[in-house]
Amino acid sequence: MTSNNNSIQFHDYQPKLAQLGEAVIHGLSQHPRSIPPKFFYDQTGSEIFDDICETDEYYVARTEIGILENHRKDIAKHVGTGCLLIEPGSGNSQKVRILLDALRPHAYLPMDISRDYLQFAAQQLANDYPWLEIHAACIDYSVPIDLPFAPVGTRKVAFFPGSSIGNFERGQAKIFLRNIANMVEPGGGLLIGVDLKKDPSLLHAAYNDADGNTAAFNLNLLTRVNRELGSNFDLDGFSHHAFYNEEHGRVEMHLVCEKSQYINIHSKQFHFSVGESIHTENSYKYHIDDFQELAQQAGFRPIKVWSDEDHLFSVHYLEAEHENN
Ligand code: AVI
Repeated sequence: MTSNNNSIQFHDYQPKLAQLGEAVIHGLSQHPRSIPPKFFYDQTGSEIFDDICETDEYYVARTEIGILENHRKDIAKHVGTGCLLIEPGSGNSQKVRILLDALRPHAYLPMDISRDYLQFAAQQLANDYPWLEIHAACIDYSVPIDLPFAPVGTRKVAFFPGSSIGNFERGQAKIFLRNIANMVEPGGGLLIGVDLKKDPSLLHAAYNDADGNTAAFNLNLLTRVNRELGSNFDLDGFSHHAFYNEEHGRVEMHLVCEKSQYINIHSKQFHFSVGESIHTENSYKYHIDDFQELAQQAGFRPIKVWSDEDHLFSVHYLEAEHENN
């Protein structure tokens, strides 16, 4: 469904409720149990994520913003002006604002799974950048994206900040990057934020902020499942648990059961005993050259990397290769 809201075109491909039900039932039937992290982002989850980005402990957002601000001219030099700028998982579209004046894209295509949030953010952007053509698409960007609604004939550049690539398993990350390379086509680009390996105590603090925003974000997943699938998780019987797994190079988030309970979802029943956990997220951390190698395997040529002076975070510009290169 497409609608034109004066200055923005809106395209609705929101996944059906059945996908949440199927994914939750499938994930809870596995051992260890899991729920995919893409379901964190209902309206409340998206808002809590914005709160996490404001905490002192979550260095990710402010460090990346600093890099984009400090290097926006150089970034624009590499990316070029007049492109079709595509942002999968655009959320509040905050970071792209840093680049818009320097990049002067032909059009901006934000994509997000959270429809109301996407519409609000796109409208705010349209108000603040009246010259910008915006095509907003409510879409699950973790599957191959085709752009039937995109203006044709313009060089495409994807923008994927926030180290959301870290939420994919390595194999999945490669598939995702390959999908992006296909989407932007040879000669197109990808500007991507990637969190770096660092002292585990900084990571521990970042995913266990003192005000409990990350715990609320994690637990909101069960609130959402209860509301949308009619299940009966007792939220007081689950607690947030996040830690750095050195062996796998990732932060893991879990919801650990503290009160034995039976959960009914549709016609299924699951028993949770004390100590059992639901694995809700992995957040992989990379070395710069590891990430470049992964990008190369997915069909990209590394062009330039920017970082902060403490080497907490990196922003990469990659160009999609022609297949025979
Ligand atoms: C969106 N993503 C990159 C965040 C991360 O750091 O993995 C999500 C998040 N989870 C807990 N805090 C933030």
